Amino acid sequence: MDIGIDAIGLFTPHWYVDLVDLAHARGDEPAKYTIGIGQDQMTVTPATQDVVTLAANAANQLPADSLDERLGMVIVGSESGVDESKAAAISVVKLLHLNPWVRAFDIKEACYGGTAGLLAARDFVAAHPDKTALVIASDIARYGLASGGEVTQGAGAVALVVSAQPKLLVLHDDALAYTEDIPDFFRPTGMTVPVVDGHYSTSAYLDFVGKVFARHQSQHHDQYGDYAALLFHLPFTKMGKKALAALAPAMNDADHQRLTERLAAASQLSRRIGNIYTGSLYLSLVSLICEDKTIRSGDRIGLFSYGSGAVGEFFSGTLQPDFANRIDQAGIQQMLSARVRLNVLEYEQVFTAQLPLGDADATVPVEESTARFSVGGRANHARWYRDQQQEKGA
Ligand code: COA
Repeated sequence: MDIGIDAIGLFTPHWYVDLVDLAHARGDEPAKYTIGIGQDQMTVTPATQDVVTLAANAANQLPADSLDERLGMVIVGSESGVDESKAAAISVVKLLHLNPWVRAFDIKEACYGGTAGLLAARDFVAAHPDKTALVIASDIARYGLASGGEVTQGAGAVALVVSAQPKLLVLHDDALAYTEDIPDFFRPTGMTVPVVDGHYSTSAYLDFVGKVFARHQSQHHDQYGDYAALLFHLPFTKMGKKALAALAPAMNDADHQRLTERLAAASQLSRRIGNIYTGSLYLSLVSLICEDKTIRSGDRIGLFSYGSGAVGEFFSGTLQPDFANRIDQAGIQQMLSARVRLNVLEYEQVFTAQLPLGDADATVPVEESTARFSVGGRANHARWYRDQQQEKGA
């Protein structure tokens, strides 16, 4: 039985900073950001968005027919959750008025949580082919003002519907994971930004790429010629280039050229949105479909997922005949072109004006946005959310 991704929804907030502006403000060469790190813009997250609203807004962008009474499981993969106990997935079920007869929970393992959710959903559908699952990778990447990782910040969520006979991507039964305890990036409880050694993390990622691809090829006898595209988790787009370069010595020229061109297409949305942690690999898939008009149904796509700490996993899938229609491509272009560019001072003010930590009652000022769901504030210790559609209808 074929199981895989039936549809994808993407959401990112409506503010961004141009990284040439940021480079000037930080006294860096713009080319370091745009070429050396490979990022052009960075999403700025308003206080009205958290991982719950990002997740619900992403699921709200799914094609109308994709969430129905077959839904049996809702998973949010995130490393920037707002509650140490309650799952964001439960709030998503409520906000979207989903069928309550579902299993809802979150998964955490740095940027790998979305992949863990996707593969758990695949197993769930294999056991219950009449059911579907909703997996949402939702995150806000915050490193801190003027920090080493600042230029790689971003925010967004990708919602994946997993089903039997999927219309977008059939997942193969070839997922191979490698886990090793390393201190490259982690965020102890109570800290708002991670402890990260970016250079160590980059070399650990490449070490995992080498190990996982070598074992995958020896176990599954796949070759680079089998793949129309290789997608990578992109904390910044240069990371994908480094990963492909690490594999390149074993490729022939034609494979290398094809995989390089497709990786460039798959990196376009990350260049504009920034790092979205758990969703970054799936943002690459969206980007490939939106930006590369040469990929075809039947093409095999390889996906490498990496979550610091660390877990690396490689798996593959085959595009299905209706794949291009299972993402609202026009809606994504509209969402991106409607974004508002902030100057660096405005970004810094927004960065520090988040809902304060603690449990005091607070209200988040409403601001102009097309997002359906937003954070309203906190009352009786709990966050509460707005639904613009419901408010307009009321
Ligand atoms: N023009 C073009 N390229 C330039 C440049 C210029 N003027 N100045 C520097 N560069 C290049 C460097 O050569 C380097 O390229 P390389 O990596 O291919 O060698 C790149 O820009 C970055 O320069 P570097 O000095 O290493 O930058 P940095 O010390 O600020 O660190 C990161 C960059 C990405 C490591 C840092 O932003 C970071 O820690 N990010 C978060 C890490 C992360 O996401 N970790 C999780 C991984 S899953």
